Amino acid sequence: MTAEKGGYDHFMLKEIYEQPKAYRDTMRGRVSEDGKSVTLSELSMTPEQIRAFRRVHIVACGTAMHAGMVGKTIIEQLARLPVETDVASEYRYRSPIITPDTLVIVVSQSGETADTLAALREAKRCGARVLAITNVVGSSVAREADDTIVTLAGPEIAVASTKAYTSQLIAFYLFGLYLAQTLGTRDEAFVANMLAAMQALPEQVERILAQAETIKEIADAIAHNRSLFFIGRGVDYAVALEGSLKLKEISYIHSEAYAAGELKHGTLALIEEGVPVIALLTQEELFEKTISNIKETKARGANVLGIYNEGQEAEVAKSVDSQFAIPRTLPLLTPALSVVPLQLLSYYASLALGHDVDKPRNLAKSVTVE
Ligand code: AGP
Repeated sequence: MTAEKGGYDHFMLKEIYEQPKAYRDTMRGRVSEDGKSVTLSELSMTPEQIRAFRRVHIVACGTAMHAGMVGKTIIEQLARLPVETDVASEYRYRSPIITPDTLVIVVSQSGETADTLAALREAKRCGARVLAITNVVGSSVAREADDTIVTLAGPEIAVASTKAYTSQLIAFYLFGLYLAQTLGTRDEAFVANMLAAMQALPEQVERILAQAETIKEIADAIAHNRSLFFIGRGVDYAVALEGSLKLKEISYIHSEAYAAGELKHGTLALIEEGVPVIALLTQEELFEKTISNIKETKARGANVLGIYNEGQEAEVAKSVDSQFAIPRTLPLLTPALSVVPLQLLSYYASLALGHDVDKPRNLAKSVTVE
């Protein structure tokens, strides 16, 4: 069993460390040799069909849905198409407006999640084109979708999804750029610049992983708290949701993720002396606003960990109790880095509490019943 885990204590840790490879594998062959464009030769949708899309729906469950929330921002920013993101178990029961000019993107690591598959079928019934982002070639979702982008994360064994999530982000970046170059919403220089930044991500993740010991110390310190909060704005909010889910799932610590600006609309009442708040601050244009939200929690006694871009140590230090810097990248790409310390945080918190990291109670790897 240890051999299968490649010398790691748990599959989850192994899979966290496999992320640089998963990023490279998912990008390989999908970026042109000159690095200026995306080639998704697996897609059968034509440029005319792409130009006919009027809206995009992204539908998935759990962690895959959190990747879809980042996907919404990616597609809206790059392709200027309106995007809705929905949890699959809600989607088909709310009579969604699905038209033949809707592109429905279903995201599923396993490709077998019952609710996601049912949403896919509903979308097809309504005449929409369906694109699947999945990690399993030949899965039900891949077989039934019109198009599939396979994430090349390799098998994911731990119940807590890590490398599948980040590979889904890479797939969204590639597809967003592909839409942008087809629709002409971004020029060649923009695409080339973003692709260059994406190629740097694997090495940047390696730099984060090299600091796992720092995250372990933070995890040991917070593991015995009853409850904690994740806050962020923009894509940082989507990553906060994923960090919170990961922590709940394997450490059983109650946590909530909040859009930082929403705190004062109710949740601030729960902040008291010593409550840990993990604040994501990677979005330059939202930095000052998030700092003021952090100050609101500090004024009530919160113990704040700030996750921010390298180079802002001095500004962040004034407002937080502990800090962790991620390497600099483009604002849209930060989720592919900022989630990594959060994955490690839940892993080490679960370990500190003596839980079964790879097989948390009450949960299955793939949810094939409704
Ligand atoms: C992630 O850590 C969870 N175990 C869970 O939310 C998972 O992402 C969800 O069940 C969706 O699975 P899928 O990607 O295989 O469809």
